[in-house]
Amino acid sequence: MKRIIALTATVTALGLNGWAEDKVDFAKSIQGVLEARCIDCHGSKKQKGDLRLDKKELALEEVIRPGKSAESELYKHISLPADHEDIMPPKGDPLTKEQIEAIKKWIDEGANWPDGLVLVSAKDRAEAKAAAARLPEPEIKEVPVSDAEKAAIARLASGEGLGEKYAAPLVMALAQDTKLIYANFRLVGKNVNDGHLAPLADIRNLSELDLGNTQITVAGLKHISKANSLTKLSLANTAIDDAGLKQIEGLSNLMSLNLYNTKVTDAGLASLKNMKFLRKVYAWQSGVTEQGAAELKKALPNVDVNLGFKLAKAEPKKEEKKKEAKPVAFNKKCPVSGKDVDPAKLFAISFCCGNCLGDFTKDPAKHIAKVKGPDNKKCPISGKDIDASKQFVIGFCCGNCLGDFTKDPAKHIAKVKK
Ligand code: HEC
Repeated sequence: MKRIIALTATVTALGLNGWAEDKVDFAKSIQGVLEARCIDCHGSKKQKGDLRLDKKELALEEVIRPGKSAESELYKHISLPADHEDIMPPKGDPLTKEQIEAIKKWIDEGANWPDGLVLVSAKDRAEAKAAAARLPEPEIKEVPVSDAEKAAIARLASGEGLGEKYAAPLVMALAQDTKLIYANFRLVGKNVNDGHLAPLADIRNLSELDLGNTQITVAGLKHISKANSLTKLSLANTAIDDAGLKQIEGLSNLMSLNLYNTKVTDAGLASLKNMKFLRKVYAWQSGVTEQGAAELKKALPNVDVNLGFKLAKAEPKKEEKKKEAKPVAFNKKCPVSGKDVDPAKLFAISFCCGNCLGDFTKDPAKHIAKVKGPDNKKCPISGKDIDASKQFVIGFCCGNCLGDFTKDPAKHIAKVKK
């Protein structure tokens, strides 16, 4: 009897599981597979087949049809027979059945991909992690809390000088088991001026400081110019300029500096050159240029200067490359005369996608009847509009041979050899 009850319970549980089954979780089941097996060739560094899969928009635009796995080139390519020459990934073992099924289900469920989630190849992730582990860390020593330090913390925490209606700056230990101090004036923002920072000079354990949105100037920064425990500082949304950075150039243990929306320029960055632990400088909406960032990186190779959208602007390279790329003949010898090809005498056939181009390349004779002439506007295989970057180009030794071919491509196509 007991057994029957137990069995029933199991069956019920399974049934419920089936009902409650969640959608495929991109981060859990898909991201890892793409990062391990695809992004090396289809990411920010390489775009094999002109395809990027590291960003949602790019992947969806090209090879994923949400809700329709059967029409998604991505799914088609991973589910080909293992010995098919178009199978993805082209190297190593094919994806496992489970991985392929998860991707299929994920696409059929709408290909949900959290906004802004950019994939990084597993190899690059591991390298970045290893590199970070190799970087030297500053040695911050907590010091006994002096009476002056205690008094300074109390003064700040009381909101002294800020007037009753404003909150006091947040001043607290970084964690329970440390004397290191985190102080945040950003929440009090515009009411904070240079004078309010005076107690900071007595806080020798000051480790992280946010002065964002305040009215401080170079004079206020004098109070922290000897804060040797400081590793993280934000001056975002202040009027701080190059003179301000000069004031804090002695903060040798600083690892992160936020200069977002300040008046700092490339000249000011030069004051940071001796901060040998500096890793991150946020300089979006400041006067810092890519050139200034590169200059700082010469002195501090581990620093990452974030210029926000300015970096994103560099991307349309792909488009330029396409325009510049001159078509190159597939064959070295003229299929009509057998002589060397003249790179100016070309017969270009365009396709809608890499697949159709691939099909044609495999067996040109099979499809040549559908080619109505050079510089076609519709794909001879699918009939769809062409993508000018997907071309099969045949070279000839001279205009005569090109003319002969154009009159009757089928007659000569068999002689088109790599
Ligand atoms: C070693 C490099 C490499 C890896 C890894 C790789 N690919 Fe590719 N992929 C290519 C190349 C090269 C092409 C272009 C083939 C062609 O045009 O004939 C391509 C083409 C494609 C295409 C066709 C693009 C189009 O325009 O129709 C898809 C889809 C694709 N890959 C998906 C994937 C997926 C998904 C993975 C991971 C499971 C992956 N690839 C892994 C090299 C790679």
